[in-house]
Amino acid sequence: MPLVTIIGSGRVGTSAALFLMLKEICDIRLIDIVEGLPQGEALDLSHAAALLGKNVDITGSNDYKDMAGSDIVIVTAGLARKPGMTREELALENGKIVKSICEKILEYAPHSIVLMVTNPLDIMTYVALKVLKFPRHRVIGFSGTLDSARLRYYIAKKLGVSYQSVRGFVVGQHGEKMVPLLSATYVGGIPVTKLLSENDLKEISERTVKAGEEIVKLKKWSAYHAVGAGIAEVVESILKDRKDIHNFSALLEGEYGVKDVVAEVVGILGRRGIEKIIELEMTEDEKARFYEAVQWIKDLCEKVVKELGL
Ligand code: LAC
Repeated sequence: MPLVTIIGSGRVGTSAALFLMLKEICDIRLIDIVEGLPQGEALDLSHAAALLGKNVDITGSNDYKDMAGSDIVIVTAGLARKPGMTREELALENGKIVKSICEKILEYAPHSIVLMVTNPLDIMTYVALKVLKFPRHRVIGFSGTLDSARLRYYIAKKLGVSYQSVRGFVVGQHGEKMVPLLSATYVGGIPVTKLLSENDLKEISERTVKAGEEIVKLKKWSAYHAVGAGIAEVVESILKDRKDIHNFSALLEGEYGVKDVVAEVVGILGRRGIEKIIELEMTEDEKARFYEAVQWIKDLCEKVVKELGL
């Protein structure tokens, strides 16, 4: 079985482990610095695996060297934004954590594919790329699988169709500057712009962008069920070399005329990680918002990378 290590045994890390265990596609190693936590979560999940007959080996550890031999390392560790904390402050604090974890990945799993989940996602993916110096196909920011699922959910509910009937994408930033690409969203092959009014589309778009925030307000904690489910989908596409089209954050190397910036895009995932980035056509308005998001990410990345001495 391939091995997947999840760094950070909080709600997101353990939710990802749960969904991965259900898929029975890899052994799972949980790593966290809190003593007992990854071991306890691993044992609890192992009991669930036994109960369901999922033959997956799940272990927990406080030692980074136990990630050795991993095919994929998923980084979920980091602080949640505290009240009054700016995005910039969070980027710096989590940047330090991500930098030290990536140094361990370089030491113990230098051939792995790294899936970044820590927020602010696009910035943390850029920090990871700077520390790891891996080719861009091996450093993926987990973002758009979740964002586009939310978009698809709202459209399916509005139209009363199955979730599978809706294909939709989100680009830009994983945060308030994300751009739901309604011009590239289809329901059973029909452009969604032909099926819903401008008002409905505007409302769906806004709810998609604010979905994470809405959940925090309601349950006083960040989303993690859909995050874990999305991570498991991404891992499956990679391990099974499925060449599925996903939404994710990646280093742009000239796509959309942009270089050296991590942004949310659409592409193909397979055993190499990012197999290809697909450039989608956008309307003038979508384009303007996409480039605004890119500029925002670029500015913050510059500050964070400088502060971290990278
Ligand atoms: C969200 C957080 C997990 O979008 O980034 O809910």
